[in-house]
Amino acid sequence: MTSSDMKRLLVIGAVGQIGSELTMELRARYGNDNVVAMGRKTKPSESLLNSGPFEWGNVNDPESIIAAIEKHDIDTVYLMAAILSAVGEQKPQLAYDVNMNGLYNMLEIARERELTRMMVPSSIAAFGPETPKDNTPQETVLRPTTMYGVTKVAGELLADYYFKRFGVDVRGLRYPGIISSETLPGGGTTDYAVEIFYEAIKNKRYTCFVREDTVLPMMYMPDCINATIQLMEADLGKLKHHSDFNVAALSFSAGELAEEIRKHIPGFECAYEPDFRQQIADSWPRTIDDSAAREEWGWRPEYDLPGMVEDMIEKLTPRLT
Ligand code: SER
Repeated sequence: MTSSDMKRLLVIGAVGQIGSELTMELRARYGNDNVVAMGRKTKPSESLLNSGPFEWGNVNDPESIIAAIEKHDIDTVYLMAAILSAVGEQKPQLAYDVNMNGLYNMLEIARERELTRMMVPSSIAAFGPETPKDNTPQETVLRPTTMYGVTKVAGELLADYYFKRFGVDVRGLRYPGIISSETLPGGGTTDYAVEIFYEAIKNKRYTCFVREDTVLPMMYMPDCINATIQLMEADLGKLKHHSDFNVAALSFSAGELAEEIRKHIPGFECAYEPDFRQQIADSWPRTIDDSAAREEWGWRPEYDLPGMVEDMIEKLTPRLT
Protein backbone atom coordinates (compact mmCIF):
# COMPACT_ATOMS: atom_id res chain seq x y z
CA MET A 1 0.00 0.00 0.00
CA THR A 2 1.22 3.54 -0.71
CA SER A 3 0.09 6.90 0.60
CA SER A 4 -2.12 7.24 -2.48
CA ASP A 5 -4.21 4.42 -0.96
CA MET A 6 -5.16 6.82 1.85
CA LYS A 7 -8.25 8.44 0.39
CA ARG A 8 -10.90 8.53 3.10
CA LEU A 9 -9.68 9.48 6.57
CA LEU A 10 -11.22 9.38 10.04
CA VAL A 11 -9.76 11.43 12.91
CA ILE A 12 -10.91 10.09 16.29
CA GLY A 13 -10.43 12.73 19.00
CA ALA A 14 -10.81 15.51 16.44
CA VAL A 15 -11.94 18.09 19.00
CA GLY A 16 -8.79 17.69 21.10
CA GLN A 17 -5.60 19.73 21.19
CA ILE A 18 -3.84 17.97 18.30
CA GLY A 19 -6.90 16.49 16.57
CA SER A 20 -8.52 19.88 15.93
CA GLU A 21 -5.56 21.31 14.00
CA LEU A 22 -4.62 17.98 12.42
CA THR A 23 -8.12 17.57 10.97
CA MET A 24 -8.00 21.01 9.35
CA GLU A 25 -4.59 20.31 7.79
CA LEU A 26 -5.68 16.88 6.56
CA ARG A 27 -8.78 18.47 5.01
CA ALA A 28 -6.55 20.97 3.19
CA ARG A 29 -4.40 18.12 1.83
CA TYR A 30 -6.90 15.34 1.14
CA GLY A 31 -10.06 17.36 0.45
CA ASN A 32 -12.66 18.56 2.99
CA ASP A 33 -15.20 15.83 2.33
CA ASN A 34 -12.58 13.06 2.59
CA VAL A 35 -11.64 13.75 6.21
CA VAL A 36 -14.24 12.83 8.82
CA ALA A 37 -13.87 14.35 12.29
CA MET A 38 -15.09 12.33 15.29
CA GLY A 39 -15.70 13.80 18.74
CA ARG A 40 -16.93 12.28 21.99
CA LYS A 41 -18.43 15.07 24.06
CA THR A 42 -16.88 18.51 23.61
CA LYS A 43 -18.63 20.84 21.18
CA PRO A 44 -16.55 21.17 18.00
CA SER A 45 -15.54 24.61 16.75
CA GLU A 46 -17.53 26.19 13.92
CA SER A 47 -14.58 25.81 11.55
CA LEU A 48 -14.26 22.09 12.28
CA LEU A 49 -18.01 21.58 11.96
CA ASN A 50 -18.47 23.64 8.80
CA SER A 51 -15.43 22.45 6.84
CA GLY A 52 -16.29 18.76 6.53
CA PRO A 53 -18.16 15.73 7.93
CA PHE A 54 -18.47 15.31 11.71
CA GLU A 55 -19.61 12.24 13.68
CA TRP A 56 -20.08 11.58 17.39
CA GLY A 57 -18.46 8.40 18.70
CA ASN A 58 -15.65 7.03 20.82
CA VAL A 59 -13.09 4.24 21.00
CA ASN A 60 -14.82 2.50 23.89
CA ASP A 61 -17.91 2.12 21.71
CA PRO A 62 -16.50 0.21 18.72
CA GLU A 63 -19.92 0.16 17.03
CA SER A 64 -19.78 3.95 16.71
CA ILE A 65 -16.40 3.67 14.93
CA ILE A 66 -17.59 0.86 12.65
CA ALA A 67 -20.70 2.87 11.73
CA ALA A 68 -18.55 5.89 10.75
CA ILE A 69 -16.13 3.69 8.78
CA GLU A 70 -18.98 2.11 6.84
CA LYS A 71 -20.91 5.33 6.28
CA HIS A 72 -17.89 7.22 4.95
CA ASP A 73 -15.97 4.34 3.34
CA ILE A 74 -12.93 5.05 5.57
CA ASP A 75 -9.53 3.46 4.77
CA THR A 76 -7.25 5.35 7.19
CA VAL A 77 -7.69 6.22 10.88
CA TYR A 78 -5.87 8.70 13.12
CA LEU A 79 -6.54 7.64 16.72
CA MET A 80 -5.89 10.89 18.61
CA ALA A 81 -8.25 10.28 21.57
CA ALA A 82 -6.38 9.74 24.85
CA ILE A 83 -6.33 10.48 28.55
CA LEU A 84 -3.09 12.39 29.31
CA SER A 85 -0.66 11.98 32.18
CA ALA A 86 -2.06 14.26 34.91
CA VAL A 87 -5.71 13.22 34.54
CA GLY A 88 -4.43 9.65 34.14
CA GLU A 89 -2.92 9.80 37.64
CA GLN A 90 -6.22 11.03 39.05
CA LYS A 91 -8.29 8.50 37.08
CA PRO A 92 -6.00 5.55 36.28
CA GLN A 93 -8.86 3.18 35.44
CA LEU A 94 -10.28 5.63 32.94
CA ALA A 95 -6.80 6.12 31.39
CA TYR A 96 -6.43 2.36 31.00
CA ASP A 97 -9.87 2.01 29.51
CA VAL A 98 -9.50 4.77 26.91
CA ASN A 99 -5.81 4.35 26.04
CA MET A 100 -5.56 0.55 26.17
CA ASN A 101 -9.02 -0.91 25.55
CA GLY A 102 -9.72 1.87 23.04
CA LEU A 103 -6.53 1.08 21.14
CA TYR A 104 -7.28 -2.65 21.20
CA ASN A 105 -10.77 -1.99 19.81
CA MET A 106 -9.35 0.15 17.03
CA LEU A 107 -6.58 -2.33 16.13
CA GLU A 108 -9.14 -5.10 15.87
CA ILE A 109 -11.31 -2.97 13.59
CA ALA A 110 -8.24 -2.14 11.44
CA ARG A 111 -7.39 -5.86 11.21
CA GLU A 112 -10.90 -7.06 10.43
CA ARG A 113 -11.57 -4.36 7.86
CA GLU A 114 -8.07 -4.38 6.38
CA LEU A 115 -7.65 -0.62 6.71
CA THR A 116 -4.80 0.88 4.69
CA ARG A 117 -3.12 2.59 7.62
CA MET A 118 -3.58 3.73 11.21
CA MET A 119 -1.86 6.30 13.47
CA VAL A 120 -1.64 6.00 17.24
CA PRO A 121 0.57 8.47 19.09
CA SER A 122 2.93 7.45 21.86
CA SER A 123 4.66 9.93 24.16
CA ILE A 124 7.81 10.84 26.08
CA ALA A 125 5.74 9.43 28.97
CA ALA A 126 6.80 5.97 27.73
CA PHE A 127 10.13 6.71 29.44
CA GLY A 128 10.67 6.57 33.18
CA PRO A 129 13.08 7.52 35.96
CA GLU A 130 15.63 4.85 34.96
CA THR A 131 15.78 6.07 31.33
CA PRO A 132 18.84 8.22 30.44
CA LYS A 133 17.59 11.81 30.65
CA ASP A 134 19.77 13.47 28.04
CA ASN A 135 19.73 12.60 24.38
CA THR A 136 17.42 9.71 25.25
CA PRO A 137 18.05 6.97 22.68
CA GLN A 138 15.42 5.35 20.47
CA GLU A 139 16.12 1.98 22.05
CA THR A 140 16.26 2.38 25.83
CA VAL A 141 14.73 1.51 29.21
CA LEU A 142 10.91 1.80 29.11
CA ARG A 143 9.75 1.61 32.72
CA PRO A 144 7.28 4.50 33.21
CA THR A 145 5.75 5.27 36.60
CA THR A 146 2.45 6.78 35.40
CA MET A 147 -0.62 4.93 34.15
CA TYR A 148 -0.46 7.09 31.01
CA GLY A 149 3.12 5.92 30.41
CA VAL A 150 2.20 2.28 31.06
CA THR A 151 -0.55 2.49 28.44
CA LYS A 152 1.84 4.14 25.98
CA VAL A 153 4.55 1.45 26.30
CA ALA A 154 1.97 -1.33 26.13
CA GLY A 155 0.32 0.46 23.21
CA GLU A 156 3.59 0.62 21.26
CA LEU A 157 4.14 -3.09 21.81
CA LEU A 158 0.56 -3.98 20.92
CA ALA A 159 0.63 -1.87 17.75
CA ASP A 160 3.95 -3.39 16.64
CA TYR A 161 2.48 -6.85 17.34
CA TYR A 162 -0.48 -6.10 15.07
CA PHE A 163 1.91 -4.99 12.35
CA LYS A 164 4.10 -8.10 12.54
CA ARG A 165 1.38 -10.64 13.24
CA PHE A 166 -1.51 -9.33 11.14
CA GLY A 167 0.10 -6.85 8.73
CA VAL A 168 -1.87 -3.87 10.10
CA ASP A 169 0.16 -0.83 8.97
CA VAL A 170 0.01 1.07 12.26
CA ARG A 171 2.45 3.90 12.96
CA GLY A 172 3.21 6.13 15.90
CA LEU A 173 5.60 8.64 17.39
CA ARG A 174 6.57 9.63 20.91
CA TYR A 175 5.24 13.17 21.08
CA PRO A 176 6.94 15.58 23.45
CA GLY A 177 4.82 18.31 25.12
CA ILE A 178 2.84 20.01 22.36
CA ILE A 179 2.46 23.81 22.40
CA SER A 180 -0.48 25.20 20.46
CA SER A 181 -2.61 28.32 20.04
CA GLU A 182 -5.93 26.90 18.77
CA THR A 183 -7.16 24.36 21.33
CA LEU A 184 -6.00 24.07 24.93
CA PRO A 185 -4.44 20.77 26.00
CA GLY A 186 -6.42 18.79 28.55
CA GLY A 187 -4.87 17.18 31.57
CA GLY A 188 -1.19 16.78 30.67
CA THR A 189 1.96 17.49 32.65
CA THR A 190 3.33 19.77 29.92
CA ASP A 191 0.19 21.98 29.90
CA TYR A 192 2.06 24.78 31.74
CA ALA A 193 3.97 25.52 28.52
CA VAL A 194 0.64 26.52 26.90
CA GLU A 195 -1.16 28.06 29.91
CA ILE A 196 1.77 30.41 30.52
CA PHE A 197 1.04 32.25 27.23
CA TYR A 198 -2.64 32.81 28.05
CA GLU A 199 -1.87 34.18 31.52
CA ALA A 200 1.10 36.26 30.34
CA ILE A 201 -1.02 37.95 27.65
CA LYS A 202 -4.14 38.39 29.82
CA ASN A 203 -2.69 39.12 33.28
CA LYS A 204 1.08 39.52 32.93
CA ARG A 205 1.53 36.85 35.62
CA TYR A 206 1.47 33.07 35.85
CA THR A 207 1.94 30.52 38.61
CA CYS A 208 3.67 27.53 37.11
CA PHE A 209 3.07 24.04 38.54
CA VAL A 210 6.62 22.79 37.92
CA ARG A 211 9.94 24.16 39.20
CA GLU A 212 11.76 26.88 37.26
CA ASP A 213 14.62 24.52 36.37
CA THR A 214 12.34 21.76 34.98
CA VAL A 215 13.49 20.93 31.45
CA LEU A 216 11.19 18.88 29.20
CA PRO A 217 11.13 18.11 25.47
CA MET A 218 8.50 20.21 23.65
CA MET A 219 7.29 20.84 20.11
CA TYR A 220 5.28 23.58 18.41
CA MET A 221 2.03 22.48 16.77
CA PRO A 222 3.05 23.12 13.12
CA ASP A 223 5.99 20.74 13.63
CA CYS A 224 3.72 18.22 15.38
CA ILE A 225 1.28 18.23 12.46
CA ASN A 226 4.12 17.87 9.94
CA ALA A 227 5.70 15.00 11.87
CA THR A 228 2.38 13.16 12.12
CA ILE A 229 1.47 13.50 8.45
CA GLN A 230 5.03 12.87 7.22
CA LEU A 231 5.25 9.61 9.15
CA MET A 232 1.85 8.52 7.84
CA GLU A 233 2.85 9.32 4.26
CA ALA A 234 6.31 7.71 4.53
CA ASP A 235 7.18 4.76 2.35
CA LEU A 236 6.56 1.61 4.42
CA GLY A 237 9.62 -0.05 2.88
CA LYS A 238 11.89 2.59 4.46
CA LEU A 239 10.59 2.13 8.01
CA LYS A 240 12.51 -0.06 10.43
CA HIS A 241 10.44 1.20 13.39
CA HIS A 242 6.67 1.59 13.39
CA SER A 243 4.86 2.72 16.53
CA ASP A 244 7.62 4.17 18.68
CA PHE A 245 9.57 6.88 16.85
CA ASN A 246 11.39 9.39 19.06
CA VAL A 247 10.80 12.90 17.71
CA ALA A 248 12.50 16.00 19.09
CA ALA A 249 12.19 19.71 18.44
CA LEU A 250 12.76 21.92 21.51
CA SER A 251 13.97 21.42 25.06
CA PHE A 252 13.86 24.29 27.55
CA SER A 253 13.28 24.92 31.24
CA ALA A 254 10.11 26.60 32.52
CA GLY A 255 12.33 29.55 33.51
CA GLU A 256 13.82 29.86 30.01
CA LEU A 257 10.31 29.88 28.52
CA ALA A 258 9.21 32.65 30.92
CA GLU A 259 12.35 34.64 30.03
CA GLU A 260 11.65 34.36 26.30
CA ILE A 261 8.01 35.47 26.82
CA ARG A 262 9.27 38.44 28.88
CA LYS A 263 11.13 39.72 25.80
CA HIS A 264 7.70 40.32 24.22
CA ILE A 265 5.73 41.14 27.37
CA PRO A 266 7.94 43.28 29.62
CA GLY A 267 7.05 43.02 33.29
CA PHE A 268 5.64 39.47 32.96
CA GLU A 269 6.05 37.73 36.31
CA CYS A 270 6.21 33.97 36.72
CA ALA A 271 5.99 32.24 40.11
CA TYR A 272 6.65 28.55 40.70
CA GLU A 273 4.50 26.34 42.93
CA PRO A 274 5.19 22.70 42.03
CA ASP A 275 2.33 20.23 42.60
CA PHE A 276 1.93 16.46 41.94
CA ARG A 277 2.83 17.01 38.29
CA GLN A 278 6.44 17.83 39.26
CA GLN A 279 7.06 14.19 40.08
CA ILE A 280 5.72 13.16 36.67
CA ALA A 281 7.92 15.76 34.94
CA ASP A 282 10.95 14.55 36.92
CA SER A 283 10.42 11.01 35.60
CA TRP A 284 10.68 12.12 31.94
CA PRO A 285 13.75 12.92 29.78
CA ARG A 286 15.17 16.39 29.14
CA THR A 287 16.33 15.90 25.55
CA ILE A 288 15.62 13.26 22.91
CA ASP A 289 17.71 11.58 20.22
CA ASP A 290 15.47 11.39 17.15
CA SER A 291 18.00 10.14 14.60
CA ALA A 292 15.84 7.11 13.64
CA ALA A 293 12.97 9.43 12.60
CA ARG A 294 15.41 11.65 10.69
CA GLU A 295 16.94 8.71 8.85
CA GLU A 296 13.83 6.62 8.18
CA TRP A 297 11.33 9.30 7.13
CA GLY A 298 13.25 12.57 6.89
CA TRP A 299 11.97 14.24 10.08
CA ARG A 300 13.22 17.82 10.66
CA PRO A 301 11.60 20.39 12.97
CA GLU A 302 11.29 24.03 11.88
CA TYR A 303 10.59 26.01 15.04
CA ASP A 304 13.13 26.99 17.70
CA LEU A 305 12.20 28.55 21.07
CA PRO A 306 12.28 32.24 19.93
CA GLY A 307 10.35 31.41 16.73
CA MET A 308 7.68 29.45 18.61
CA VAL A 309 7.22 32.13 21.31
CA GLU A 310 6.94 34.94 18.74
CA ASP A 311 4.34 33.03 16.72
CA MET A 312 2.28 32.02 19.80
CA ILE A 313 2.13 35.62 21.05
CA GLU A 314 1.27 36.95 17.60
CA LYS A 315 -1.60 34.44 17.23
CA LEU A 316 -3.00 34.69 20.78
CA THR A 317 -2.75 38.42 21.51
CA PRO A 318 -5.60 39.55 19.22
CA ARG A 319 -7.87 36.83 20.63
CA LEU A 320 -7.14 37.46 24.31
CA THR A 321 -6.93 41.25 24.54
N1 SER B 1 1.70 16.25 26.91
C1 SER B 1 1.60 14.94 27.46
C2 SER B 1 1.35 15.00 28.92
O1 SER B 1 1.84 15.91 29.53
C3 SER B 1 2.85 14.16 27.19
O2 SER B 1 2.60 13.23 26.19
O3 SER B 1 0.72 14.14 29.46
